[in-house]
Amino acid sequence: MSCPYTYKMKKIYLIIISITLLLLLTAQTGSNDELKKHFREISMLFMEDLKSVLMKNLSEGGPLQAITVCSDTAQELTNIIGKKNNVDLKRVTFKPRNPIDTTDAFETKVLSRWHELMSEGNFDKETEYFEIVEIEDKPYARYMKPIFIQGPCLTCHGGENMISSEVKNLLKEKYPDDKATGYKPGDLRAAISILQFIE
Ligand code: HEC
Repeated sequence: MSCPYTYKMKKIYLIIISITLLLLLTAQTGSNDELKKHFREISMLFMEDLKSVLMKNLSEGGPLQAITVCSDTAQELTNIIGKKNNVDLKRVTFKPRNPIDTTDAFETKVLSRWHELMSEGNFDKETEYFEIVEIEDKPYARYMKPIFIQGPCLTCHGGENMISSEVKNLLKEKYPDDKATGYKPGDLRAAISILQFIE
């Protein structure tokens, strides 16, 4: 026989549990939004830094100097900015110039989807991707943001007739497996990829 008192207590417990779950969920969503915003800011600063090094060398010394500086400093700058922000930071692409910039399984999944949306003409330039994943039973936040080709990139990433023979020769010398040419403005070139362990 059910006792009305127990029934009432059960109902109260249920309400308390529901409210707690709701609060936890809201707090989690809030902190994920914060993380996403933080990663977006890191990505933007990183791109600005890289671009300013590139543009400075392009205008001061031309494309050959810019390639030399870029090949010496791009990875270093990426690591420094990653360390400073306590994240793993990378640029990844399906057509790498530097073989280090190759995608892992997670990045392949996200970037493939983005290329699909691009080819359907449905890719929104504000697109970004955020997910909490488990790696060896530990939680990590992962974030990706697209990098697009603009006019000045064509000097070193454009089609056959956009790249001078000196630039072609230097690229071949430094990157014998270079796949990062043949682009036009607006193309999806790569993604910034951020990974951070979360408590
Ligand atoms: C002066 C030549 C030059 C110009 C101009 C240039 N890049 Fe690059 N880019 C390079 C070199 C060299 C690398 C390889 C750097 C390395 O070794 O990490 C590279 C690498 C990259 C990578 C990393 C992925 C990979 O393929 O290794 C991305 C993304 C990229 N460039 C995007 C751009 C974009 C976007 C622009 C225009 C805003 C641009 N680049 C302009 C020379 C250039």
